[in-house]
Amino acid sequence: MTNEVEIPKHVPQHIAIIMDGNGRWAKARGLPRLAGHKAGTENLRRIIRACVEFGVQYLTIYAFSTENWGRPEDEVQGLLQIVESVIDKELDELHKNGVQMRHIGRLEQLPVHLQKKVLHAIDFTKDNQQLIMNIAFNYGGRDEILCAIRRIIDDGISSEKISEELVNTYMFTHGSPDPDLIIRTSGEMRLSNFLIWQGAYSEWYVTAKYWPEFDRECLLEAITSYSQRDRRYGKLSASNEARSDAC
Ligand code: FPP
Repeated sequence: MTNEVEIPKHVPQHIAIIMDGNGRWAKARGLPRLAGHKAGTENLRRIIRACVEFGVQYLTIYAFSTENWGRPEDEVQGLLQIVESVIDKELDELHKNGVQMRHIGRLEQLPVHLQKKVLHAIDFTKDNQQLIMNIAFNYGGRDEILCAIRRIIDDGISSEKISEELVNTYMFTHGSPDPDLIIRTSGEMRLSNFLIWQGAYSEWYVTAKYWPEFDRECLLEAITSYSQRDRRYGKLSASNEARSDAC
């Protein structure tokens, strides 16, 4: 039944997701917030599989922001443990499925044993090409820009050499194209400090579904919506250009 829905011709090369609504999903079920994050992690597994199926090449997920340290200690510790246990339990499976893991954000502020695990996962999967997955953990878009500025200055680069291309090379996401489509679940209409440089011309898709409920069909709906968009990057669409040429 599910396979009957056709995969659109224009699948985004890079999808980024703000996986929002885990807490509300849990609350609606009388569960602790961490149960929502665990359900969200289960869902991530399904969405990774669907991305591979649909031919998405890059997936960036917002798992922990630089602001999330301000959450209650048990939630912060729980999220750190979730990442650790995903690496411990899922790395082989992700590797078999050709997923290359990358990290974006401030790794050096994570506990040392977790830093080592993340670095191991990155190294272990570095040759995989089926799906490049950037995990934004301890990530903030403004923090990323500050880091880039500091490193550009430290490298002694003169102002006339600073271009968009150069700045891109200083971003945590260096090596990934800009996201074509950014999805946010749970209905919130905010950037929340996510990919604020890279998302300049991304298409947005916001759904009321909470992240643990955002399944394969929901992803397909988001991709279908994307495939019908006219991306103009501040210019005119092809049909408009043809019309103005004719005048
Ligand atoms: C936002 O929902 C979700 C998060 C801050 C955490 C998302 C993290 C995961 C799903 C785990 C990811 C796992 C790996 C391996 C990277 P919220 O808590 O803000 O929800 P609410 O707005 O309903 O309270």
